[in-house]
Amino acid sequence: MSEFIIRGGNRLTGSIKVQGAKNSVLPILAATLLTNETCVIHNCPRLSDVDISVQILRHLGCQVAREGNTVTVEGSGVCRGDVPEQLMRKMRSSIVFLGAIIGRTGMARMSAPGGCELGNRPIDLHMAALRRLGVNVDETGGFINCCCSRPRGCEITLGFPSVGATENIMLTASLASGRTVVRNAAREPEICDLAEFINKMGGRISGAGESTVAIEGVPCLHGCEHTVIPDRIVSATIMSAAAVTNGDVELTNMRPEHVSPIITALEEMGCSVTGGDTWCRIKAPERLAPACTVRTMPYPGFPTDAQAPLMAVAAVANGTTVFIESIFDSRYKHVAELNRLGAKISTDGRTAVVCGVSRLTGAAVESTDLRGGAALVVAGLNAYGETRVGNICHIDRGYEFFEKQISLLGGDIVRV
Ligand code: UD1
Repeated sequence: MSEFIIRGGNRLTGSIKVQGAKNSVLPILAATLLTNETCVIHNCPRLSDVDISVQILRHLGCQVAREGNTVTVEGSGVCRGDVPEQLMRKMRSSIVFLGAIIGRTGMARMSAPGGCELGNRPIDLHMAALRRLGVNVDETGGFINCCCSRPRGCEITLGFPSVGATENIMLTASLASGRTVVRNAAREPEICDLAEFINKMGGRISGAGESTVAIEGVPCLHGCEHTVIPDRIVSATIMSAAAVTNGDVELTNMRPEHVSPIITALEEMGCSVTGGDTWCRIKAPERLAPACTVRTMPYPGFPTDAQAPLMAVAAVANGTTVFIESIFDSRYKHVAELNRLGAKISTDGRTAVVCGVSRLTGAAVESTDLRGGAALVVAGLNAYGETRVGNICHIDRGYEFFEKQISLLGGDIVRV
């Protein structure tokens, strides 16, 4: 099993191009199922979650080719609607294939995703929405079986603006008969990217990025070409790494507006952040100040996925920062590992209190989940001495060539 060995203390400097967004690519790859024509997707990061999505598409009968960061999907051979259990288990977000498979084949069978490292993750909103769209959903024996001749447009009000449920509705409703209106829809940039992709295929989605999204069903969709948006959580992670190393880093191919709550927090901590529409430069002070309370919220609030990397920054601030996790019920597993590195963090339910120390100290730690693992790398870049981060398969799910990117900025990190 590989691990990262980090010798902390190097100042990160230089320029880095941010990868494409994992959370956009996955639903967009699922959306390619909605046509039997060819879709070409650029800026696809090379990640294990993307590989799993490609395996799912191939299993369903698609021809998938990959050249560098471009993935081409040709779906004329789609001949089945089941997702193998081992692929569902490897990637919880394969649930986003459900809506696309139903839209394409009129049936779908997959195992129900269980809990995960972030705690209980129900899919009740997805199921209720599909039922409203006229899909017959049977959840027995740990499997989800769906069938439907053609979904029909309807009105759906989500109890919570779930990203995955909003995506599944958009995917199912795009080929439905009639108009679907989703209220309290998720507003994340990845929702806009998916809507843009489906609209390029000939879909008719309006309002993406707002809390009411309307989807006018069309009889068929066609192939298209699309470039995936930059990954805002990778941007946040690199900015965090710059912050803890007194760094001076320019990020290109990114959208500062997608990370504005992170920029605000880093500015509160004394960093200077400048930039334009597609780039930014972060300069960190020698000693960081604490941030105001960080409360994770649906977009455009502070993203739950950036909570762990920013906590690694708060761990070395000159004062106390409070975090409140409002999205997931168990998202502080990285805290014990950060504390092994000398951080002083205590948690009580959804609240974490981070008392900053002057510097962390290297130790052997284990990634607990994707963003928690990234936070340990950020912490290791600050720590005195050697930090070994194990279980990095979690990190490989979301960060493309992570150690190479950080090395290019001057960080001392190797994969062994
Ligand atoms: C997506 C992102 C993930 C991010 C999350 C929140 C992908 C592949 N993953 O996950 O990185 O952390 O958004 O920004 O895009 N919920 C229910 N019932 C449901 C669905 C969700 O109760 O049917 C709850 C979840 O348990 C969670 C909250 O709603 O507490 C947010 O979940 P959701 O927005 O659906 O996140 P995902 O789409 O799973």
